[in-house]
Amino acid sequence: MKPDDWHLHLREGAVLNKVLDFSSKVFSRALVMPNLSNPVISPLKAMEYKKEITKRLGRNSEFTPLMTLYLTESTKPQIIKELKRGHIITAIKYYPAGATTNSTNGIKSFKTILPVLEEMAKNDIPLCIHGELPGEEYDIFDREKLFIDLVLDRIISIIPDLRITLEHITTLDAIQYIKHANKNLAATITVHHLMLNRNHMFQKGIRPHYYCLPVAKREKHRKALLQTATSGNKKFFLGTDSAPHLSRDKESDCGCAGIFSAPYALNLLAGIFEEEKKLDNLEKFVSINGATHYNLPVNTNKITLVKRDSPIKVRNHIKVNNDKVMIFGKDFDIYWEIKLPKNESF
Ligand code: NCD
Ligand code: ZN
Repeated sequence: MKPDDWHLHLREGAVLNKVLDFSSKVFSRALVMPNLSNPVISPLKAMEYKKEITKRLGRNSEFTPLMTLYLTESTKPQIIKELKRGHIITAIKYYPAGATTNSTNGIKSFKTILPVLEEMAKNDIPLCIHGELPGEEYDIFDREKLFIDLVLDRIISIIPDLRITLEHITTLDAIQYIKHANKNLAATITVHHLMLNRNHMFQKGIRPHYYCLPVAKREKHRKALLQTATSGNKKFFLGTDSAPHLSRDKESDCGCAGIFSAPYALNLLAGIFEEEKKLDNLEKFVSINGATHYNLPVNTNKITLVKRDSPIKVRNHIKVNNDKVMIFGKDFDIYWEIKLPKNESF
């Protein structure tokens, strides 16, 4: 069955134009993140953003962008019923203020938003969480565990009925917490966190294109993610967190976080599952578990992956305006190829 991407940054304007095809030709649906420079904080803005995306899709495109709303401390509980009725958004996104790209309008204290979360639980609207406790005083490698212990665990104990996706998890601690939590908690895992540990960011020099948030952790965490993602456990599924940034913004004095992984995400995953001898579980991870968590039908359309005898030619970057966006995958041998319908290419 065709896969879905449960965490995707498509951006706007020129970048959106250039990156959309990579997801829309391979994935059936994607949960589109709302952290634009002017974030998607209202249903109206979500509708406008959806229109901006859909007008760029080809006439015969089978792709559906699923929209998210950016939660702020000013989001009103009353808006939730309206959202439920309008079927405008699929989930609401919780960014701790200062945790990542465009998160300044995010949440400072989870206590402020408890009434909104209560209303979401009543109306069965899922919450997606960037699970890191921001703050200079916290070691960057500990921020996911701290968020789980000090925020997530408290939210779940107050509102156990709220459906939650802990996004782009990076630690064994998160895996263990999720496995033991109630059925309403699930998690996305990215392709890059299955492939990179923290040393890769410093391999023979500093590698800005391997820097993302949450930052890659120790090898033991990567191994645990690998084992969990390929296990078929229905609480874990793919969210690529493909996050394009212009090279000049990443290769700078203060380079920003994000890895553009959409172009080879599925190809790389096929290789990973094959190596783990778990190809049978690939469909669960990319096509079934996420849809089940979001209470949506599993796709019926299909996609074909073919294993080549020699590595395929991997593109290194795409051009955007006078700059480029580097593509994740160029440092690896990729043997799996996606067979697109005749007359289609990227
Ligand atoms: C994302 C981005 O660039 O929007 N960056 C990242 O490193 N993952 C934001 C996010 O999901 O944290
Ligand atoms: Zn993201």
